[in-house]
Amino acid sequence: MATHFVIDGLKAEIEGKEILKGINLEIKGGEIHAIMGPNGTGKSTLASALMGHPKYEVTEGSATIDGEDLLEMSVDERARAGLFLAMQYPSEIPGVTNSDFLRSAINARREEGSEISLIKFIRQMEKKMKDLEMNPEFAHRYLNEGFSGGEKKRNEILQMAMLEPKIVVLDEIDSGLDIDALKIVSNGVNAMRSEDRGFLIITHYQRLLNYITPDFVHVMMQGRIVKSGGPELAERLENEGYDWVKEELGIVDETVGQA
Ligand SMILES: Nc1ncnc2c1ncn2[C@@H]1O[C@H](COP(=O)(O)OP(=O)(O)OP(=O)(O)O)[C@@H](O)[C@H]1O
Ligand SMILES: [Mg+2]
Repeated sequence: MATHFVIDGLKAEIEGKEILKGINLEIKGGEIHAIMGPNGTGKSTLASALMGHPKYEVTEGSATIDGEDLLEMSVDERARAGLFLAMQYPSEIPGVTNSDFLRSAINARREEGSEISLIKFIRQMEKKMKDLEMNPEFAHRYLNEGFSGGEKKRNEILQMAMLEPKIVVLDEIDSGLDIDALKIVSNGVNAMRSEDRGFLIITHYQRLLNYITPDFVHVMMQGRIVKSGGPELAERLENEGYDWVKEELGIVDETVGQA
């Protein structure tokens, strides 16, 4: 069965403040969805709430992969169910090498007794690092410690490629990438496109979508998806900004009138 990811009426708050105000989104295997939207509208909150970050409290709604309720699961279980998140600001984990981290992440998703063999793991990792034009020494460095912004992003894509998730959420994977790295990372994503895998790509710039062609583009404002379209929507946003969306939908900036 092809992957089917459904977010239905998702509301979430942080420290008592509602950030997500009812998100509806459906992603089928093979599809790439992009979310764009002004700063502070809840895009990363959506990613974190889906992954089960303890700071975000889901108050209403559901999120399922192939009918399995993610919100009932621990973070580990969500990963096992096939959800992967490349964070906007990946955390540094001193003391844990990149390669150890990856191998335990892979094994955590397998049944006991069917762990990946060391040889097979190393071979796979070396191949994927080569595809991503990463220096082999990154396998032995502590996870993200001292990595440059772009190196962290490339490393997130390495994790994605190794874990082969069903649903991939990429939060600003293009931020901080140089021009060549943008292409390498995009190729990495495109190589992972398959009927069994859906993508949700959060980005500010149409530029990324020149390389990774989305099937759907959604605009998020004030904790809701307020408009959806095809790739042409991203182009219009790049050219004209967000004012026309606000005008069209009668959205008033929340800060207006508070002074
Ligand atoms: N840990 C937190 N404590 C307090 N407020 C928070 C926290 N996390 C998020 N928020 C608030 O929630 C709102 C949404 O933040 P979020 O990071 O989801 O925005 P975003 O759409 O990803 O923005 P950007 O495009 O700048 O990355 C912001 O107003 C932010 O300040
Ligand atoms: Mg964000």
